[in-house]
Amino acid sequence: MQWLVTGCSSGLGLELARAILASGHKCIATSRNPSKTPEAVAEIERLGGIWAALDVAASDLEFRLGEIVDKHGTIDVLVNNAGYAAGGPLEAMGIEAIQNQMETNFLGPIRAIKALVPSMRENRSGIIVNISSAEYWDPHAGCSLYSASKFALEGLSESLATELSAFGIRVLIVEPGGMRTSFVAPETITKPVLPDAYKGTMTDFVLSAILAMHGEQKLDPRKAAEAVVEEVLRPCGTPPVLRLPLGKESLEGMRGKAGRLVGNADVCEAVALGADF
Ligand SMILES: NC(=O)c1ccc[n+]([C@@H]2O[C@H](COP(=O)([O-])OP(=O)(O)OC[C@H]3O[C@@H](n4cnc5c(N)ncnc54)[C@H](OP(=O)(O)O)[C@@H]3O)[C@@H](O)[C@H]2O)c1
Repeated sequence: MQWLVTGCSSGLGLELARAILASGHKCIATSRNPSKTPEAVAEIERLGGIWAALDVAASDLEFRLGEIVDKHGTIDVLVNNAGYAAGGPLEAMGIEAIQNQMETNFLGPIRAIKALVPSMRENRSGIIVNISSAEYWDPHAGCSLYSASKFALEGLSESLATELSAFGIRVLIVEPGGMRTSFVAPETITKPVLPDAYKGTMTDFVLSAILAMHGEQKLDPRKAAEAVVEEVLRPCGTPPVLRLPLGKESLEGMRGKAGRLVGNADVCEAVALGADF
């Protein structure tokens, strides 16, 4: 199988490229600016992989994907991994920052999926892996925009999973917990603007905790990547899951949210049933 992974310059994307190649499959690792990470490019090419430039927020994304397919052949597994977190209170965020977050985390995956689904549909096989987040279980104060981008990806994926199953295409959503990558490193993350009114609130507390988390996250990106590859390659016959939570934080988050939803349904049962004709 040939995989294409976005956002391979570091973190989970780079580990995915390594794990895919170690499993004996073909991998096209992509990143915005390959010349920025010559060691990673050389390593993946030495392992037999291909590296291509791809910016998921660029206007020529579809054209670049077409060029990659023309040159290297059809993609069997697309991994929408590229992403970043724009943190801060929503009211302090400019519309441009909001649009950029959605362009990379949500519209980029949509555009990549739209570009590659026709060939998967014709082949009546293919797998789309969308990297979401444990934020889906418990969206935090100060993370509304990032959460919105991942919730949008979750909704898209869940609906598409049914829509595309008619053509033998599987959709897998991956929800990593806090993962030890450069995701919240000082050099990666744009320090959120915190208006005075938010000082001392839960938003202030959460944002400080996230920034202090760098290097202490519990989830190992190498093991996370191996788990994704293992799930995608799971033999036919075993029922495929829609969601793959990764790490204790995410698994507990999934169970916690399920419990809160059941509790909410119980509280609202009479009102909900009473609203029908
Ligand atoms: N780390 C965590 O705690 C955590 C938890 C849950 C979910 N996630 C998700 O996991 C995924 C990978 O993140 P990571 O932890 O591996 O962080 P990372 O090390 O910062 O990697 C993020 C990657 O996304 C790329 N990227 C950003 N904008 C892009 C664009 N417009 N086009 C192409 N690539 C772009 C970055 O490339 P550049 O080098 O060009 O910037 C980088 O390669 C993300 O979707 C993130 O939301 C992470």
